[in-house]
Amino acid sequence: MRFQGKRAVVTGGASGIGRATALRLAEEGAQVWIGDVDETGGQEVADTSNGKIKFRRCDVTNAEDIKALIEEVDAAGGLDVLFNNAGAGGAKEKIDEISPDDWDRTQNLLLRSVALGIRYAAPLMAKRGGGAIVNTSSVSALGTGYAPTAYSTAKAGVLHLSKMAAADLAKDNIRVNAVIPGFITTNIFTRHLEIPDDKRDIANQMIAGAAAMAQPVKRAGRPEDIAAAVAFLASDDAAFITGTHILVDGGITIGTRQSWDPEMPGMFAALDALA
Ligand SMILES: NC(=O)c1ccc[n+]([C@@H]2O[C@H](COP(=O)([O-])OP(=O)(O)OC[C@H]3O[C@@H](n4cnc5c(N)ncnc54)[C@H](O)[C@@H]3O)[C@@H](O)[C@H]2O)c1
Repeated sequence: MRFQGKRAVVTGGASGIGRATALRLAEEGAQVWIGDVDETGGQEVADTSNGKIKFRRCDVTNAEDIKALIEEVDAAGGLDVLFNNAGAGGAKEKIDEISPDDWDRTQNLLLRSVALGIRYAAPLMAKRGGGAIVNTSSVSALGTGYAPTAYSTAKAGVLHLSKMAAADLAKDNIRVNAVIPGFITTNIFTRHLEIPDDKRDIANQMIAGAAAMAQPVKRAGRPEDIAAAVAFLASDDAAFITGTHILVDGGITIGTRQSWDPEMPGMFAALDALA
């Protein structure tokens, strides 16, 4: 019950990683506010929470929506934890094809939203002696081949923003960290690929199957894997941790596939015949 008596905001809490984190924080005692554009999904999570989770419509590309959500929680007794997590795949185009508007839309959704969440939460947290902020980055912040260019660039921004904000806000006893999910089975992929609703379950099974093969830990990543790390970073167990990140990726970024997959011949395997 690390969050007993605390209040938390989770953006993107209607689905996937945000939903699992809202449930985890509530299970550990927090009163949680979900902010999401998915009203049906958000309300569903709230309705099954015995009053521990509330839903408020919030489009994180809209500054006023973010401000209003955070102010509602402040008015209800004060904000202790902010999880800036809402997101989607963004523009699919490569850098030589992307339009200025698509670039802006993706950065607004994934990076500006996080900056504004911190911007509005920090003074209110400072006023009451501190707080904890966690932001969702991605393995695509660390290398190529995981996600489109605009998305990956925004997620790299989230990582550095988490450090900068940790430095800016240390004076107010506010800790800021990031979580870096690997390949986690959620609806983000089916939404991005525009797979129709009636094919979503089968698509998610296929995604989970592919995910289990993608990294040294031989199973698909689950939203609960990320929720556990976020709950740790947001709790007093992480009281001495700020300005950094936790990588929860089943080892996908560990190194070349040859280093961990015995089925994959090493770069110099052919040379064995010459020895
Ligand atoms: N699933 C993965 O493999 C993975 C990997 C790395 C990072 N992430 C990141 O994790 C976060 C959560 O994604 P997920 O995988 O749980 O996907 P998801 O699609 O299950 O959940 C994303 C949630 O964000 C909400 N959302 C989208 N646009 C919004 C907006 N403008 N305002 C408010 N809410 C909005 C959606 O309605 C949805 O409920 C995202 O930031 C995503 O980029 C996911």
